[in-house]
Amino acid sequence: MLEWRGFLLVVHLLSTLMMAAPFYMLVIVNERARFGAPLGYFTDRYMENIIRNNAVRCFVFQGTMLASGLALTLVSGYGWSALFTLPTLVVKWVALLILISLLSYIHFSLQPRIEVLANQLKPDSPPPADLAPKITALRKRRKKLSGICLFLVLAALISGIQVTFRYNIYLAIALIIVSALFAWRAYKKPVPLGWV
Ligand code: HEM
Repeated sequence: MLEWRGFLLVVHLLSTLMMAAPFYMLVIVNERARFGAPLGYFTDRYMENIIRNNAVRCFVFQGTMLASGLALTLVSGYGWSALFTLPTLVVKWVALLILISLLSYIHFSLQPRIEVLANQLKPDSPPPADLAPKITALRKRRKKLSGICLFLVLAALISGIQVTFRYNIYLAIALIIVSALFAWRAYKKPVPLGWV
């Protein structure tokens, strides 16, 4: 059983690593803003391709997280009832469900509207004058949701370690508050030194 637990924890932690994407999406859009160049095909088409295609990867990592998490709940001896009785385990699957919902809204509703606008960008002609404010409004909404996603991933991570090691729940709450501040910082500005 220990081998199964070890294997599932490796899969679970690798998925956690890959779910750092909201942080790097915030870095990408904040660096685009800092770059300051006007809306253009070569910059903005490239950036939208990265963000659009990353959503598919995120869905796969979220699915892996859910499957390995459910398997861990069983293999590590917590039992199904722990999904409703262990507060930090509840935080984790609720956070994951919200993450899946937000990503679905971004990928199936928001991104297609951004794509309609981004497709008006041509390599050999300037963009229509009214395009920039329209695309900026949708990008701002997407960026806000990325900030919320980053916080949810961090909160689930902190809760996960509390599930395994049962450290003081107040420390977990304090760490989740700190992760909210970090997510806010990463949302507002490029974080040149990683943590600040
Ligand atoms: C964004 C979502 C999630 C993240 C980032 C996450 C992250 C983590 C982390 C970092 C650990 C600690 C591993 C260790 O101490 O070595 C953990 C443990 C655990 N996670 Fe998750 N997790 C997530 C979602 C879930 C879900 C949805 C479930 C269940 C349905 C789940 C079930 C568990 C269980 C049972 C453990 C304890 C494993 C053990 O003690 O062997 N996780 N998680």
